[in-house]
Amino acid sequence: MEKGRVLVTGAAGYIGSHTVVELVNAGYEVIGVDNFSNSSPDMLKGVEKITDRKIPFMQLDCSDREQFAKVFEQYPDIAASIHFAAYKAVGESVQQPIKYFENNLRSLLCLTELSVKDGRERGIVFSSSCTVYGEPDPENLPISENAPVKPATSPYGRTKQMCEDILRDCVTAYPSLRVTALRYFNPIGAHPSALIGEMPVGVPQNLVPYITQTAAGIRKELKIFGNDYPTPDGTCIRDYIYVCDLAKAHVAAVDRMLRTDGSDRYAIFNLGTGTGLSVLQLVNHFISATGVSLPYSFAPRRAGDIIKVWADPRKANRILGWKADTPIDDVLRSAWAWEKKVRGIR
Ligand code: NAD
Ligand code: WQD
Repeated sequence: MEKGRVLVTGAAGYIGSHTVVELVNAGYEVIGVDNFSNSSPDMLKGVEKITDRKIPFMQLDCSDREQFAKVFEQYPDIAASIHFAAYKAVGESVQQPIKYFENNLRSLLCLTELSVKDGRERGIVFSSSCTVYGEPDPENLPISENAPVKPATSPYGRTKQMCEDILRDCVTAYPSLRVTALRYFNPIGAHPSALIGEMPVGVPQNLVPYITQTAAGIRKELKIFGNDYPTPDGTCIRDYIYVCDLAKAHVAAVDRMLRTDGSDRYAIFNLGTGTGLSVLQLVNHFISATGVSLPYSFAPRRAGDIIKVWADPRKANRILGWKADTPIDDVLRSAWAWEKKVRGIR
């Protein structure tokens, strides 16, 4: 049964591609858009193979209002949008803040304007981030949606905070609009088919792609940034969430926005597992789950790293009826299967 049309911006990206698969599985019609600034059309081919469906797609830049308007002209039946399209490299955002404000803010503004323009009821699911919490006070762990949003430590993080604020103001101003902001913790892993996964450009900055590239022999060794933190084993703690679990949460968020009566038109959910793992624990899980050797050594702390953060996901568990429950070993095996597939390793 078809449930209505969902616009997915950044559909060829890491989380977007996995979400398109889950939307199709759940019976939604999808229109995907992407400008391939950080992805390739191959990812869409992977999605089409997995779903055995042609996915309607338009290549365009969401920060270009005229181009973007064509999507709504062609698909006026869009009931909800999931907005993944953004730049996401924290370090680059410090070097080139204007690039980040330009793309991330302008794209959101265009989407919001186009969503409310004709007065039709529409929802927007926004990709936010646990980065809005900064370094949580220890008594606030696990961190809930009520914890304070702290001053952002990077322009990237600031775009997430600003976008949340913009959306909150727009919900107040436009009665036809509903918004769900999803604050992701650390998404990892790949689709079990190994047809889609994370595709970092250049040297990976994030832990799991660095691990899988090291295991594949592309990187000499993993450097663990800091082993003198005030944590049980001295390494930083994060909440690593499986990308397919994360993708399913988007479907649950769209379902909820389309069915609720409109009383709660702006909602925020943490999307995490509720369990923190240290870098060392994650590395050991990878080694035991895959049986692959992983050279690593300890290195100085990385500037700007949060010491420990993990989610209180109970609001999403309760209201979205969703839970991230894929075992970490399965998640890490999926990341390794994807890396092997990309590198042609048997
Ligand atoms: P990604 O880079 O793989 O996907 C983003 C996609 O958007 C890419 O395909 C890119 O080409 C596209 N894009 C960027 N700007 C565009 C524009 N102006 N017009 C059209 N397409 C554009 O990133 P991801 O990991 O899938 O992240 C998706 C969203 O989730 C982002 O908003 C990101 O900030 C957010 N997020 C990601 C993480 C993470 O660790 N991956 C954590 C928290 C939040
Ligand atoms: C995880 C842990 C590192 C690489 C970033 C963004 C955040 C969010 C998710 C979007 C840390 C350690 C890493 C390595 C290491 N993205 N590490 N060696 O820093 O939690 O968050 O991605 O919103 O905004 O900042 O994720 O994967 O980079 O690091 O020791 O080579 O792994 O120090 O403790 P992070 P990460």
